[in-house]
Amino acid sequence: LSRAFSHGPQRPGRPSFGIAFDIDGVILLGNSPVGGSPGALRKLYGADGGLKIPYVFLTNGGGFPEAKRAFELSQLLGVNVSPSQVLQGHSPFKQLVKRFENDLVVAVGKGEPAAVMSEYGFRHALSIDEYASCFENIDPLAPYKKWTSNLATMQNSKFNESFPRNDVLSKRVQAAFIVSDPVDWSRDIQVLCDILKTGGLPGRNVGPQPHIYFANDDLEYQTKFPSERLGMGAFRIALESIFNRIHPHCLEYTCFGKPHPSVFKNAEIVLQKLVASLYDDFYDKNHDKTSSFKTLYMIGDNPAVDIRGARQTGHPWFSILTRTGVFKGKENHDKFSADLVIPCLEKSHKYVNLFPL
Ligand code: G3P
Ligand code: MG
Repeated sequence: LSRAFSHGPQRPGRPSFGIAFDIDGVILLGNSPVGGSPGALRKLYGADGGLKIPYVFLTNGGGFPEAKRAFELSQLLGVNVSPSQVLQGHSPFKQLVKRFENDLVVAVGKGEPAAVMSEYGFRHALSIDEYASCFENIDPLAPYKKWTSNLATMQNSKFNESFPRNDVLSKRVQAAFIVSDPVDWSRDIQVLCDILKTGGLPGRNVGPQPHIYFANDDLEYQTKFPSERLGMGAFRIALESIFNRIHPHCLEYTCFGKPHPSVFKNAEIVLQKLVASLYDDFYDKNHDKTSSFKTLYMIGDNPAVDIRGARQTGHPWFSILTRTGVFKGKENHDKFSADLVIPCLEKSHKYVNLFPL
C-alpha cells in the first residue's frame, strides 16, 4: 500500500490512483466470489477497517437500489461497501427523472426494477409485472393470465394509493426502462410491443412511439455457468427485430452503461468525491478541472465493454483484463487490447508493481 502511494509527486496524503472493478466475471460469478477477490478487496482497507484505496464497482448489472446492492456486496465480500461506491447500469437513469417524474413509466427486469426507479424519483413507475396485471380481465391479453399472482402485489404496492389501478388502462405510458436483465422475454417483448406500437396506450393504435431506455447493451456476460449468458443487448436485438417487423418505423431507443465514456467520467468524479470524503476535503468538480488521479485502473472481463470503454475514455484510465469471465484468450484481445492481461484479480500485484493487490 505504501508503494502504491509512491506514484510520484502528489498532494500530501491523497492517493494518486483509484480503481473501478467490474462485478460479473471479475468479482463475482453469479453470487459466488471469484477466487480470492474478497481478500484482494480487503487489501484496500486499513487495519482500522477504513477505506485506504479509493475504488468503485462499475457494473452494467443492476436490478436493486444502490443501497441494497451495496449491502449485498458487503455481505458477499466481507468488506464495507457504501452505496456511493456502487455504479450500476441503470444509475444514469437518474438524469431522466425531471423529464418523466410525473409520468407513467414501465420498468423491466429481474429484481426490483420499480423500486429502483421510485428511489430515483420517478413517481409513477410500474414494474412490467404490475403493468401486465392491469390487463388481467381483458381476454386478448390472455397470455398474461399466469401473472395473476401479481394482482396481490398490485393491491399492496404503494403505486395503488398514488395512482389507482384502473387509471393505468387510460394512462399513456411515456417511457419504458429496461433496468436489468429481463426474465420472461416472451411476455416482456409482447407487453413492450403493445406499449411501443400504440403510443403507450395498448389496445389503441395512436401516438408516437414512447422512448425506451436500456441500462446496458451487453450481448453476453459471465456467470457460474461455463459459457456466457445472453445479456440485455441480446434482449434489445430480439425486441428490435420483432418491433421492426410489426411496426412501420424502426425502434428508437437509447442504451446506457459501459463502454460509454460518460460512465467512466462519472466514475472518476465519484472516486474524486470518495477521496475528498476520506481526507475531509471538499471536492469541487467545477474547480478541480484536471483529474487529481494519475492513474485510474479499470479491471474487467469483457474486452468489448470494460476495456473498450477505458480505452475510449483515455487518460488517466489504465485497462486490466482478467481471464476469469467473458475473455478466455491466451494473449490479449485482438480488437480491444488491454494495457495489461492478468489471470485473475489477486494475481495482479505480480504484474503491476505499483498496484497493491
Ligand atoms: O447483467 C450484468 C451484465 O450485463 C454485466 O455485468 O458487472 O460484467 O458489467 P458486469
Ligand atoms: Mg463483467
